Amino acid sequence: MLIDAQSLLHRIADRTILDLREFRVTQGEHALLLGPSGSGKTTLINILTGLMTPTSGTVLIDGRPMTGVSPAARDALRRDRIGLVFQTLRLVSALTVRQNLSLAQNLGPSASDPAEINTLIERVGLSHRADARPRDLSQGESQRAAIARALCTRPALLVADEPTSALDDTNAQSMIDLLLSSAAASGSTLLIATHDHRIRARFAHAVELQPLAVAA
Ligand SMILES: Nc1ncnc2c1ncn2[C@@H]1O[C@H](COP(=O)(O)OP(=O)(O)OP(=O)(O)O)[C@@H](O)[C@H]1O
Ligand SMILES: [Mg+2]
Repeated sequence: MLIDAQSLLHRIADRTILDLREFRVTQGEHALLLGPSGSGKTTLINILTGLMTPTSGTVLIDGRPMTGVSPAARDALRRDRIGLVFQTLRLVSALTVRQNLSLAQNLGPSASDPAEINTLIERVGLSHRADARPRDLSQGESQRAAIARALCTRPALLVADEPTSALDDTNAQSMIDLLLSSAAASGSTLLIATHDHRIRARFAHAVELQPLAVAA
């Protein structure tokens, strides 16, 4: 089991943000996390990837605990197993596309590999923009750079939060094509959080979060 989360509950100031009995994803089974804005998708992603700790519940990633361990252990597990594409892309603005990928690789678990970076930049169609800085990229180009960066440590799990929400129908479908083909080429399992039902048909495995009533 690549993701095995049990009895997740997250509360902020007496408000329940997330209440999920179980969330499991096996290796190779790409999964979609659906739900309206505010239903807790980003919260769940942050908990699964160890960026936040839940109020209660357990998360195992590839059999290793992401909950009940130190922040350093969470960071190490994320570095070893997970590639992240954030809702706000968080490319380093002072660095070019290629340098952003190099930095991510240098911070990753294995030795840096410039050839792999070239392959990834080519795969996402950014060879002609490899030496551009993020502010000079279009929105779609930035998203593709963020995907390439997330994959440059060959993560077992590639997580993307709202990768298509800013895109028109055609570009949304190409973004999903790109995520699926890049994940396949890197041997990564994909988890996508979205409120975009246009991409529902592309995934066999989908979990829908329900908006939680405002309750004490
Ligand atoms: N730090 C916080 N303090 C208080 N409330 C928070 C905090 N973070 C998130 N929330 C609330 O938790 C709920 C779930 O937020 P979350 O960002 O997980 O939703 P989402 O499903 O990702 O939404 P979207 O589709 O708009 O990205 C929202 O009502 C949000 O306002
Ligand atoms: Mg969100």
